[in-house]
Amino acid sequence: MFPERFSNLPDYAFPRLRKLLDVHAPGGPVIHMTIGEPRHPFPAWVGDEIAGALDGIGRYPPNDGTPELQTAIARWIARRYDVSVSADAQVLPLNGTREGLFNACLALCPETKGGKKPVVLMPNPFYQVYAVAALAVGAEPVYVPATADTGDLPDFASLPAETLDRTALVYICSPANPQGAVADAAYWESLLALAERHDFRIFADECYSELYRDTAPVGALETAARIGADPERVVIFHSLSKRSNMPGLRSGFAAGGRDSIARMKQLRNYAGAPLPIPMMAVAARAWGDETHVEENRALYRAKYRIADEILGDVPGYSAPQAGFFLWLPVEDGEAAAVKLWQETGVRVLPGAYLAREVNGQTPGADRIRVAMVAPEDEMRDGLTRLKACLYGQGQ
Ligand SMILES: Cc1ncc(COP(=O)(O)O)c(C=O)c1O
Repeated sequence: MFPERFSNLPDYAFPRLRKLLDVHAPGGPVIHMTIGEPRHPFPAWVGDEIAGALDGIGRYPPNDGTPELQTAIARWIARRYDVSVSADAQVLPLNGTREGLFNACLALCPETKGGKKPVVLMPNPFYQVYAVAALAVGAEPVYVPATADTGDLPDFASLPAETLDRTALVYICSPANPQGAVADAAYWESLLALAERHDFRIFADECYSELYRDTAPVGALETAARIGADPERVVIFHSLSKRSNMPGLRSGFAAGGRDSIARMKQLRNYAGAPLPIPMMAVAARAWGDETHVEENRALYRAKYRIADEILGDVPGYSAPQAGFFLWLPVEDGEAAAVKLWQETGVRVLPGAYLAREVNGQTPGADRIRVAMVAPEDEMRDGLTRLKACLYGQGQ
């Protein structure tokens, strides 16, 4: 037969990890530090909220979200970023950010740009849906290194003008998975200027924005509003998965310019599968409540402290500014993950599994990603074993 569009996709990170590790027996009680699945408690009121909205099961949910959810999100954006958006025209509730990041590319990437194949830029390493979205629309994904050399964020301005002129969309993750880096206002400002110069849109994946140490990360929409940039340049993506510990609710949102959101809604009218109404009721309440988010953040702050305490003297360790991943330097990520598993039973992800090889280089191949999602004692145990195994007890 013929090669299908996705026939060249590498194995996804987690099946690849199973192939790497599961041929060996764990060398101790197993601790999972691979998948970024939040494990802190979700708010106690979730069950009541679902029960209260149960009659919604008997109806098709509105594609654009319930007005209550749209309004709760718009109010959250106003409180968090001091940006006023129209709940109806500039906000689109999603079934988690992943599908939104994918579908936004379908809705907003043109067939051609300047008569040529469009480019979609993304950091490398990166959250994998960005690349699949680019391939799905027949665009050329361009993987831009985001390593210690570039401050752990991609330096898009360093690309050739020809590439930037063909660029239709840019994916950027801040706080970044896996690097834990945060784009500051200057970074957003120069990216917005670049977008204006080369006429592209920015998809800002900000789903870790509420998990931070001290200072709330600056947002892309916030910066665009502050400097008076064209609101159509930016679509932000947020989630209740990390902020509210509800990855199973599958709830997030996109917000941006009226035209961008209208196009995304248009596609969704044909192909969307909106969240069930009772789940939208939970989501609306969650965006309106910061108490549970502050409690959650306090739990992550304790984890940052534990990580600093155990790993602070490891050469090359840099404490994450936000999010819940450690991005630790090793010689070879795959070899380190195997050694750690075989000798201690701690499971981590080789950095290369989140990256693409470009010109013989795989950024992150000399890293492992460690998710700080386990309960505190388990995490402390995991990191202590990890340090002894990979960096030697005495360092
Ligand atoms: C960077 C990044 N973006 C998006 C997502 C998707 O999150 P969700 O679809 O649960 O909102 C994740 C999940 O791990 C992520 O790490």
